Amino acid sequence: MQNKSEIINYFKKKLEILKKHNHYYYNRDNPKISDREYDELKKELIILEKNNDVLKKLKLLSNIVGAKPSNRFSKIPHLQPMLSLSNAFDKNDMGDFIKKIKNFLSLKENKIELFSEPKIDGISATLIYEKGTLCKGLSRGDGIIGEDILSNLKTISSIPKFIKGENIPDLLEIRCEIYIGKDDFFNIKDKFANPRNAAGGTLRQKYSEETAKIPLKYFAYGLGVIKPMIFKTQSEFLKKISEWGFTTNPLVKTINGLDEVEVQHKKLDKLRSSLNYDIDGIVYKVNNLSLQKRLGNTSNSPRWAIAYKFSAEKAVTKIKKIIIQVGRTGAITPVAKVEPVTVGGVVVSNATLHNEDEIKRKDIRIGDTINIQRAGDVIPQVVSVDKSKRNKNSKKFIFPNKCLCGAQTQKEFSKNTKKLDAVRRCTKGYDCIFITKERLKHLVSKEALNIDGLGKRVIEQFWDLNIIKEPSSIYKLNYNKIKNLEGWGDLSIKNLKDSIDKSRKINLDKFIFSIGIRHIGQENAKIIASFLGSIKKFEELFNAKKNVKILNNLLELDGIGDTQINSLKTFFSNSTNVKIVKDLIAELKIDEYKIVKSNGIFSNKKIMFTGGFDNISRSEAKIIAENNGGKVLGTISKKLDYLVVGNSKPTKKKIDQARDLKIRILTEKEWNNILNN
Ligand code: IVH
Repeated sequence: MQNKSEIINYFKKKLEILKKHNHYYYNRDNPKISDREYDELKKELIILEKNNDVLKKLKLLSNIVGAKPSNRFSKIPHLQPMLSLSNAFDKNDMGDFIKKIKNFLSLKENKIELFSEPKIDGISATLIYEKGTLCKGLSRGDGIIGEDILSNLKTISSIPKFIKGENIPDLLEIRCEIYIGKDDFFNIKDKFANPRNAAGGTLRQKYSEETAKIPLKYFAYGLGVIKPMIFKTQSEFLKKISEWGFTTNPLVKTINGLDEVEVQHKKLDKLRSSLNYDIDGIVYKVNNLSLQKRLGNTSNSPRWAIAYKFSAEKAVTKIKKIIIQVGRTGAITPVAKVEPVTVGGVVVSNATLHNEDEIKRKDIRIGDTINIQRAGDVIPQVVSVDKSKRNKNSKKFIFPNKCLCGAQTQKEFSKNTKKLDAVRRCTKGYDCIFITKERLKHLVSKEALNIDGLGKRVIEQFWDLNIIKEPSSIYKLNYNKIKNLEGWGDLSIKNLKDSIDKSRKINLDKFIFSIGIRHIGQENAKIIASFLGSIKKFEELFNAKKNVKILNNLLELDGIGDTQINSLKTFFSNSTNVKIVKDLIAELKIDEYKIVKSNGIFSNKKIMFTGGFDNISRSEAKIIAENNGGKVLGTISKKLDYLVVGNSKPTKKKIDQARDLKIRILTEKEWNNILNN
């Protein structure tokens, strides 16, 4: 750059880019470049300004920079994971939730007390008090590791910094939701897309003085680690902490039975618009904390709580065309491309049509005027067709019977319903490029290889440019080609390389989940990994002869059934699938599966249950066995160490078989004695 005006123009251009990224980061809560790239850009501008008198006088930079943190906040592991909640959308879902809880706990009495709280649509945080003093404040982060945002949280005046009161536990962790009041949001609405983003952006300010400028509020809703534990119920906990000075939500209620669940849901839905904060549903929690403890968690959410979402927002639009999408399991999903319409603050241009039967049932056609709804984060759905607005010439939609790859599709026969499945599927596995692309997206996702910087959109881009064609190509990227693409620079390439390298080291269960075999989710992947133990053993699945024996053994495991075994069989009988998985393994370093509690009472013991127990369900018994180091099998074999016989309707045949094989048989009482000793 020769002259001053050129420098100033260059500076201004870069400054605009910086502003754009500030906007993505704060207003959208969706950064488009890495922190390092952002810092590099900022540094360049600072140096330019420092070395140029005109720029120095203009002070353009000081007006805008300083907002985004230079470094992310320091990371601190949570004392206890911050999980998410599963959703319910109607009375049926809520009925299922209650039924599952009763089954799990094997409850005899009719009613289980729930506690109802509004689900605040804000940003979650956790506050840790030691001997009554606030000493840590973390954001959720990825649920396992949070970010240290204590100084920003301290700007919220209603959060107690010291707790005064009696019997305050030495360690008290309070979970809460931070939000901006609707009235306060009104004053800053030009800067943020919605109150939730505003709260998120404000909490992430580097300088707490910036956070302090925006009036954040909070509601405390839950407990983390508490020592000593002095509470018996959720309602008692909230009452007590409110006496200690925490802000809790007033719209809470103890609830008994499904009918009361519905009444409360309708009541709050009506109240919703009059509140000064956004709520998007009701959280129903099992009120009794020791029952909560027994129920425990699945991979991502507690069994003892659910978010019952408010009914979806609706809008009217028109179907422009119907396209077909192929999912990672080969499922063919019809999608309506609709005229863009705003539903609940989000512009929608796609709506799912579910499957062929749904299109037939609702007689959905191209050109139709339709009612669509969007509930929570799920893809918008078509609720109804306005047939009065239909064009006379419109024709019934004929569902294609071929996949986008050209292969014939199939409907499976469901053993449960004794009917053909509603969903058509392509069965070509990695031989179908559309399935492959979806499997790649799954492979790089957070729960799988977790490759930062290689999200769904980048996979699409690299796929279209032929940079990635199968899983192993992720580890052989042509970075020279990527370097020339728009949006990629030296830094972002270095970051991508780093995160790809980091992903090479993976645990066996995660690896099994990553492959994306149908019916093998996170839980099943864990069960299989704990049985196989090492990648060497897993590789035996490639061998048609050995595979039969392993699959038979796998079938013995509790939780693995015919559905999973058939799916594994189908997967490994396809030579392309096998080759692709082999090539991927060659790039990875797969750790052996570590049994979490090898020193438990049932360490390395194989256990099987028959008959119902007096006070707990089979699911709970299984979890207890596993938590004590045991492996639970589903069929009798000589490998079994114990057959535990429950009092209610045990299978005689199993007991006889166990006797023949000289397997130790435990009564329910003996099992309890072993556990309690
Ligand atoms: S209880 C294990 N109660 O919703 C999770 N969560 O989708 C237990 N939230 O991360 C959460 N209001 O940030 C609970 N009354 C409430 C809530 C609430 C809002 C948020 C919370 C959580 C998210 C789960």
